[in-house]
Amino acid sequence: MKRRGVAIVAGLAAVLVTAASVSMGTAATESPRQTAWKLAEAVIKESSPNRGIPGFLNWAIPREIFPCRIQPNGKSDPAAPRDLFDESFHYNPEAAARLCGPLTRGPGAPPLDRALNYWAGSHPRASMIEPPFPDGAHLAAAFWSTVRRPTDPHMGKFVELPVRSGAQTLSRRIRITIPPQMSSPSSSCGPPNGQGEPAMAGVTDVSINDFFWIKLKPGERYSGASCGDFAVLVAFHLVHKVQGRWLWTTFWWDSEPNEFAAGRPGNFIGAGENPQAWRKYVMDATYEPTGAVFNPWRIEERGDNCARCHKEVTSYKDDTTGEQIFFDSVTAARTHFN
Ligand code: HEC
Repeated sequence: MKRRGVAIVAGLAAVLVTAASVSMGTAATESPRQTAWKLAEAVIKESSPNRGIPGFLNWAIPREIFPCRIQPNGKSDPAAPRDLFDESFHYNPEAAARLCGPLTRGPGAPPLDRALNYWAGSHPRASMIEPPFPDGAHLAAAFWSTVRRPTDPHMGKFVELPVRSGAQTLSRRIRITIPPQMSSPSSSCGPPNGQGEPAMAGVTDVSINDFFWIKLKPGERYSGASCGDFAVLVAFHLVHKVQGRWLWTTFWWDSEPNEFAAGRPGNFIGAGENPQAWRKYVMDATYEPTGAVFNPWRIEERGDNCARCHKEVTSYKDDTTGEQIFFDSVTAARTHFN
């Protein structure tokens, strides 16, 4: 009898432990990649206010967050028109709210964007924003390539996409083509006027529908493209605060998926007319400041680890005293630290 009681208690304990790790939703038991796929899956889905685009592109951009308002809520004005491409950095409401929260818990501490004098005059000076960003804060950066509608539908656009294989960086040369019905003249945008390039031996043609794309609306311009042309998502970063740590993740398009596709959820689909296109992106993720994380899109970010570099670029240093304050090792908020 006694033994049986012990067995029941042990069984119950196992159930409770399992339930706890499921409800905590993660990190203790999951690999960084598993957590990264799951968190990404949630933010590539369509969300308001802009239909047809992934949730993370709807997050506020710095121009909407700074200067912080009197009543900081970190929310962008959903009614305000916005050119999606004038900024590639986005902050979810939790992250945006912290960016406009008080610098520290000190009495009268002003919001981050006008706290420099307060910090400089305080003794001792805080070495870190307090509290740090909360769990559930997310940051994103998007990298686009433009594809103009060609006058001749047989034309396309050559792009060189950096991809990773093992520890190596390779480049895939492809030609992005637009199905004729997608580039035909439209009443709001007029006829296509891009020149485009013909097919070439050895270069694979890829339909634009294998990417997440956005069609530019009247008045929108981006890097030589205008109304009716396309911006194609070639890569993106998502950075998540998970149980007190930053999870650095980076996604890139690759026509030939390899180990970086591993663990992708079976139903990894997102916003846009081709929800399946999101399954063409592969991913690398880490919590650690060491080790390579693939990141070839911004020249200034090449060859270094996300976490290690962000630790440096996210501090403000007083030139005279040498004292420093850190913005939780993630955000370039210091550029707004006035
Ligand atoms: C060599 C340094 C460096 C490396 C490496 C680096 N970054 Fe950055 N990152 C920066 C700087 C500097 C900025 C701000 C640039 C600006 O304001 O124009 C930035 C901005 C960002 C932003 C926009 C939000 C913000 O306020 O910081 C995100 C998201 C981001 N990086 C993610 C990543 C990820 C993910 C990686 C790794 C795959 C990475 N970064 C690697 C230096 C780096």
